[in-house]
Amino acid sequence: MRARQDAPAHRRRLASILAPFVGGCAGIQSTFSAFGTEAESTRALTLGMTIAGVLIVAGVAALVVHAIRSPPGRLDHRGGMRVILWLGGIGPVALLTVLLLLSLPTMRSLRAEPGGLVIAVDGEQFWWRVRYAVTPERIVESANEIRLPAGRAVTFELASADVIHSFWIPGLAGKMDMIPGRSNTLVVHATRAGRFRGACAEFCGLSHARMAIDVVVLEAPEFDRWLAEAQRPAPDAPDAGRDLFGAYGCDGCHAIRGHFAGSTIGPDLTHVGSRKSLGAGASAMTRDAVARFIRDSSSLKPGSRMPAFPKMPPDDADRIAAYLMDRR
Ligand code: CUA
Repeated sequence: MRARQDAPAHRRRLASILAPFVGGCAGIQSTFSAFGTEAESTRALTLGMTIAGVLIVAGVAALVVHAIRSPPGRLDHRGGMRVILWLGGIGPVALLTVLLLLSLPTMRSLRAEPGGLVIAVDGEQFWWRVRYAVTPERIVESANEIRLPAGRAVTFELASADVIHSFWIPGLAGKMDMIPGRSNTLVVHATRAGRFRGACAEFCGLSHARMAIDVVVLEAPEFDRWLAEAQRPAPDAPDAGRDLFGAYGCDGCHAIRGHFAGSTIGPDLTHVGSRKSLGAGASAMTRDAVARFIRDSSSLKPGSRMPAFPKMPPDDADRIAAYLMDRR
């Protein structure tokens, strides 16, 4: 009866012990919550090796207990040598051979489909430039969010404009460095639709820890519709925020297709309002956060290269933010 009364507290204790070990296994940014072929095979291999490791340790512990309990002299010299030969030589070689054979297929990179989509991603301080090559001549630029079609292989061409970054979407595939002056290729294959997240995995400066990337996997037909839509410029309509965007010179760094040909120094903002996060994961995409970012980006993102506008009246920042939130 007493054990029954204690059960919830007991379970709570067990949960609190296990929490640090399993707390990171689920969610939108986890190798264990895989949504790509490469991450799925890595997860299977990791689980297989963990189970094998636990069985080996348990077997060795059982042998030790058996040896301690056996009467002295039960194993002669020849018997001892046989144990060393099998458990210290033949056993480990056989086990490592099996593990090597199991892991070889997961080391092979995925193959790009001929004519498949190529997405160029450049690491910047501290954001991601994303360019979809709809055709080699027709490029759709975006930033800080990647959309992928489920069930199709996509080739990433990874480079960096400044320092070394590392492109890592744990649920999709392994990480790959983005190195200035060279282009690294990573082929991925998303297996299910959903919203996920990746991050920069190489220390690159003050806001390295605020350099995340949103990943949206769509069913293939939905992706095709989205990509066709994303190529359209912003509709031409008068807007006070649009005028202020130009008056404050925001187009000196940012482009909004159809409104400001602008420059490609900063992130493309044509569809900024449809992104989930602001400043590569620095904050949720809300009108207030955008207005705050405009006046003082370093308050949300230390080390950001965007200049501060401390003298900009809050109403102006709010109007520009409203205009940007409408860019969907
Ligand atoms: Cu980019 Cu760390």
